[in-house]
Amino acid sequence: MATTTTVLFLIFLILKSIIIPTFSCPIHQKQALLYFKSNLANVFNSSSTQYENLDSWDPASDCCSWARVTCSRTGSVTELELNMVTTPLEYSDPISISSEILTPIFRIQSLESLDISENLFKGEIPRDGFGNLTKLRQLYMSRNNFIGSIPSSIANLTKLNFLDLADNSLSLEIPTFIGRLTNLNILYLNNNQFTGVIPSSMQNLSKLSDLWLKDNMLAGEIPTWLFKIRTLKELYIGGKGSNLIWNNTTKVDQGCSLQDILMPSCGISGQIPEWISSQKDLNRLDLSGNKLEGRFPHWLAEMYNIQYIILSDNNLSGQIPPRIFISVYLQALDLSRNNFSGELPEIIGNATGIVYLAVSGNNFSGLIPKSISKIEKLTLLDLSRNRFFGDSLPIFRARDDFFLDVSNNYFSGKIPTNFPKGTKFLYLGGNKFSGSLPFNLTKFVNLRILDLRDIIIKGNLQDILRQFPTSLEILILRNTSLNGYIPTNIFKCTSFRILDLSRNNLTGSIPRQMANLPMMNMSASSNPLSPSVLEDSDQDLIVNWKKSSQRLRNLRFFVLLDLSGNNISGEIPASLGNLKALKQLNISHNKISGNIPLSFGNLEGIESLDVSHNELSGSIPQSLDQLGNLTVLDVSNNMLTGKIPRGRQMDTMDELSFQNNSGLCGMHIKIICPEDIPSSEGRVEEEEDLSRMFWEGTWIGFPIGFFLLMSYHLNCIQLFKIW
Ligand SMILES: *[C@@H]1O[C@H](CO)[C@@H](O)[C@H](O)[C@H]1NC(C)=O
Ligand SMILES: *[C@@H]1O[C@H](CO)[C@@H](O)[C@H](O)[C@H]1NC(C)=O
Ligand SMILES: *[C@@H]1O[C@H](CO)[C@@H](O)[C@H](O)[C@H]1NC(C)=O
Ligand SMILES: *[C@@H]1O[C@H](CO)[C@@H](O)[C@H](O)[C@H]1NC(C)=O
Ligand SMILES: *[C@@H]1O[C@H](CO)[C@@H](O)[C@H](O)[C@H]1NC(C)=O
Ligand SMILES: *[C@@H]1O[C@H](CO)[C@@H](O)[C@H](O)[C@H]1NC(C)=O
Ligand SMILES: *[C@@H]1O[C@H](CO)[C@@H](O)[C@H](O)[C@H]1NC(C)=O
Ligand SMILES: *[C@@H]1O[C@H](CO)[C@@H](O)[C@H](O)[C@H]1NC(C)=O
Ligand SMILES: *[C@@H]1O[C@H](CO)[C@@H](O)[C@H](O)[C@H]1NC(C)=O
Ligand SMILES: *[C@@H]1O[C@H](CO)[C@@H](O)[C@H](O)[C@H]1NC(C)=O
Ligand SMILES: *[C@@H]1O[C@H](CO)[C@@H](O)[C@H](O)[C@H]1NC(C)=O
Ligand SMILES: *[C@@H]1O[C@H](CO)[C@@H](O)[C@H](O)[C@H]1NC(C)=O
Repeated sequence: MATTTTVLFLIFLILKSIIIPTFSCPIHQKQALLYFKSNLANVFNSSSTQYENLDSWDPASDCCSWARVTCSRTGSVTELELNMVTTPLEYSDPISISSEILTPIFRIQSLESLDISENLFKGEIPRDGFGNLTKLRQLYMSRNNFIGSIPSSIANLTKLNFLDLADNSLSLEIPTFIGRLTNLNILYLNNNQFTGVIPSSMQNLSKLSDLWLKDNMLAGEIPTWLFKIRTLKELYIGGKGSNLIWNNTTKVDQGCSLQDILMPSCGISGQIPEWISSQKDLNRLDLSGNKLEGRFPHWLAEMYNIQYIILSDNNLSGQIPPRIFISVYLQALDLSRNNFSGELPEIIGNATGIVYLAVSGNNFSGLIPKSISKIEKLTLLDLSRNRFFGDSLPIFRARDDFFLDVSNNYFSGKIPTNFPKGTKFLYLGGNKFSGSLPFNLTKFVNLRILDLRDIIIKGNLQDILRQFPTSLEILILRNTSLNGYIPTNIFKCTSFRILDLSRNNLTGSIPRQMANLPMMNMSASSNPLSPSVLEDSDQDLIVNWKKSSQRLRNLRFFVLLDLSGNNISGEIPASLGNLKALKQLNISHNKISGNIPLSFGNLEGIESLDVSHNELSGSIPQSLDQLGNLTVLDVSNNMLTGKIPRGRQMDTMDELSFQNNSGLCGMHIKIICPEDIPSSEGRVEEEEDLSRMFWEGTWIGFPIGFFLLMSYHLNCIQLFKIW
């Protein structure tokens, strides 16, 4: 047996050497790689779980056979794919690693392609190391935490045709020497903190095809020579933090033929620039966040190849030319937050390629054209904040995910439910729908957000809660005329993260089981939000946040519970203190009695706590001083007594937070607590002196103009303001 195996193995070896000539990688390159691996091991301590993907890096074998390593025919290392090499395999927070860990790599001078993207390497890009890698053609460094400037040694990499430094925190200016990398085809510097102007040396990048500079802090005029780089296909500049300006007197010649003109927030004013009409191969146009005025140009509607038209956040007006919808290539049309008017044309159904259609925040009116049902690929439809009307919605046919926002229009009739099975977000609020909720909402097993705000819903909360799928994360039932009570089995809605039941007619008490809502009661620090689909969308939502109605973005960061404005009575269950993930708890404007539970000191994530306008009594628990992120507190209009706690965030609250109670005292409301008065308490003649003493001592810092008339009131002495 053993001999047979040996013989077979020998035959295998011989065959292998005949078929694949073996060049082992140079010993110094292998050592460099092993050194890099051991650097990583030092960071992670454990060799097994964290970077299993380097297991094949065995000192006993040829490094050309290792995973993530490619060698030339002569056996030297030419490609290293070290992307995501530090990504933990088990779910845990990724660890930042000093960029010095890269040092061994710079000894491998034969490298032609190096990918170290998505590693959370932090610190400066090593200054000198890259100067060694003069054969590099491709360098991928995006999605790390690199800071500082681009080192000048990069200028020596003149063979580079692909340079990706996107999604880091690089700053200073974009260096002039970038213009020396004349072989560059693709340059991604987007999502950094580069300042200054776009360097004119870039004119020399005569092979440039993709230039992505968006989401930096670049300023100055957008140079027109960009449009003379004849190879340029994708231009993506502007975006968040941009201070770029488009000088609309400049004539762009037709030197290049761009496929993507992505110029959000580029300070473009006036009409949509007409030179764009000369770009016959245009695929994608993004001019969002500029200062465009005037109408949707006819020439743009006639560019039939165009796939994306993003014109949101401008001041465009008039009607949209119907002929834009004759194109079957159109995939995305975003006209949100302009001043367009008129109706959506019936011919919209001919644009069967549309996936994304958003016209939110305009003056559109009329019915939703029935033909929209023909657009089977339609995945996101946002018609919110217009004047659409009608007593039914058309049928939507999306096969997978579907996002619908028709909120804040004039739709009426029964609450519609004929949505695709894969519906994820449904915003129906702010319309005149009314009626009972049909039971079949449970079929929408992917539903994450349901906004029914301001709709008149017939029924009781305890009955309709059963009709929602357990996937539901955000439920807005604000001002929906709901009756009933909060059922004890509410915790079965296991995904609730934002629950707004405010301004209804709910009675009964808050069930202690409410504290078992899993997404609300996990610790604020143990990111409760990771499994959510919300991460890959930029949906927003109007809620009452910190006492004003606001449009929240980045919904995944919010965990909110709003029960305000009902007829809820009984005491606050102490278990509510377990809702550690909550950022806002509002139970104001009810008939809740009893004490504020001590356990509220455990609401570690809370930023806004409103229990005002109830019948609460007893004192405010000192434990509230543990709430390090609390910025809004309202306990006003109750029957609270005793000393208002001091310390940390408590000291930042103002008088209004505490007003109209039965007997609170403390510095916030300028009422001295009896326990703070030295023992000589008593006779009226002494009081004036006493108060002066406090004024000059403890109370320094209050504006002058208060004084001095003191009277006993429920164990406290109040200072009245006389003017
Ligand atoms: C590695 O070990 C050191 C010392 O034993 C320890 O301080 C560090 O937290 C460990 N790092 C990781 C990622 O486990
Ligand atoms: C460049 O490569 C040489 C030869 O391998 C090596 O000695 C030197 O340390 C490298 N320089 C840097 C900055 O890594
Ligand atoms: C770049 O190359 C020049 C010569 O071409 C050399 O003098 C210089 O040291 C190199 N710079 C770096 C940082 O490697
Ligand atoms: C472009 O390159 C030429 C020759 O290499 C050089 O003379 C010129 O200064 C460069 N232009 C800019 C703007 O850097
Ligand atoms: C726009 O460009 C023209 C010609 O280059 C120049 O005269 C003018 O000052 C520029 N306008 C602004 C506002 O910068
Ligand atoms: C150029 O911009 C100015 C505002 O900066 C605007 O008033 C003017 O209408 C624009 N001209 C054109 C042709 O768009
Ligand atoms: C939008 O354009 C109109 C004229 O069409 C003008 O009256 C209005 O001031 C503009 N609004 C803004 C915010 O620029
Ligand atoms: C929007 O356009 C209408 C005319 O259609 C105009 O009366 C109104 O002032 C515009 N609104 C803004 C904010 O520019
Ligand atoms: C719209 O599509 C229908 C068929 O789906 C076709 O008959 C009609 O001509 C199209 N309209 C235009 C203006 O292309
Ligand atoms: C839900 O029921 C209503 C009528 O009660 C019906 O019109 C609708 O098609 C149903 N929706 C689904 C997804 O079954
Ligand atoms: C509010 O609820 C109470 C008790 O359930 C009920 O008597 C009353 O009619 C309700 N009010 C409205 C407006 O539905
Ligand atoms: C408090 O707020 C800070 C900054 O927003 C955040 O980093 C921290 O995680 C918050 N603490 C808790 C317990 O939520």
